[in-house]
Amino acid sequence: MRRRTLLRLLPLLLVLFIPSCGKKPAVAEPFSFIVVDDLHYAGAADYDSASAPDERTLRTIRQTGQNFIPFMNALKEQALSFLPKPAAILSCGDIVHGGVSDPRAQFSSFFAAYNSVAMPVPLYNAMGNHETAGEGMQPAYDESFLPFMSGEAGRQLADRNFSLDIGDSHFILLDSQPPERTGGDHEKRIFELMDRQWRWLENDLETNKYKAHIFVFGHPTIWPVNGGDVWYVYEPQKQREFVDLLLKYNVRIYFGGHEHVNSVVCYENGAGRKLVQMVPDSEIPLEKEEIRPLVRDYTVENVAAGGGSLWSANLRELVSSYRERIGYCRISHSAAGNFIVSVEGPKVTVRMFEAFSRQPLDQYEFTAGSSGETQFSYDQP
Ligand SMILES: [Fe+2]
Repeated sequence: MRRRTLLRLLPLLLVLFIPSCGKKPAVAEPFSFIVVDDLHYAGAADYDSASAPDERTLRTIRQTGQNFIPFMNALKEQALSFLPKPAAILSCGDIVHGGVSDPRAQFSSFFAAYNSVAMPVPLYNAMGNHETAGEGMQPAYDESFLPFMSGEAGRQLADRNFSLDIGDSHFILLDSQPPERTGGDHEKRIFELMDRQWRWLENDLETNKYKAHIFVFGHPTIWPVNGGDVWYVYEPQKQREFVDLLLKYNVRIYFGGHEHVNSVVCYENGAGRKLVQMVPDSEIPLEKEEIRPLVRDYTVENVAAGGGSLWSANLRELVSSYRERIGYCRISHSAAGNFIVSVEGPKVTVRMFEAFSRQPLDQYEFTAGSSGETQFSYDQP
């Protein structure tokens, strides 16, 4: 047993004793980074056909077989050719689909596929609910992803909550899954930080408050865009505190996932500070979806419709309470791909790329003002 434990810890031990390994280069500005979410890797061999996977899982397996390697190769091409040069890929969770009888085999399968692409930049993931979907997923994630990301960073990342620096920017990746969370789609799903994680976040923000930019990544969204469960959906007061904490430290962009819809929502606090929530939606469908009208109005009907979920009433209240302060909303149910975020001094530009396209669909600019205010503009069809 001890020998097996030692073997499992071997990748982490290697990282500890070889601190200079990893793909993380010394990065000078300007630089860029790539953002994805909800890749939902599901290799066909990871699922036991005798257990009759549900339709969603069967579709996800087909999508993985058709799109995962081509999409990773498209990201690799972006990582090699985009200017300013990308320094990392940040994933907002649900990087694997889960719900398997052998979680370690699914993570091994994911890494075999991902590593076959030889991505030239490091990959970091904020854990999503599908990384916890099923018995044994969380320990398997810790045994595989934490050593992998430690290897990418060239230093030990021992906790699912972690932060790192690129240039003069600070990146915070949050673990939104409380310990009792088991994933899946049929529970009262909770996305929250444990007390120690909240204190860690406060401390990390305070320690890095003089960085040029602080970017935060998590799996759930802060504000709903597609009827899904969000951070602190059952605790509106705590949800406000979470938003205020990010604004206090001038976090301008929160990157999330989970809702599976390409979206940009800008919250204005009334004192010149803005927090923009951005979701690329990287679940690439089997066929190009029909173009649906953009959603521009942040209303209960548009983003929190439907009453079937356990959190639907909470969601409607949340949207009603924020509606007046959502100054910009763009939700596209037809787009899926990734962001590339360029950082050039005080200016941050986010470009949305649909999968396999070299032309940005739209772009957003953020500029830091001298007294903390945020200029936010956009260029889109
Ligand atoms: Fe999710």
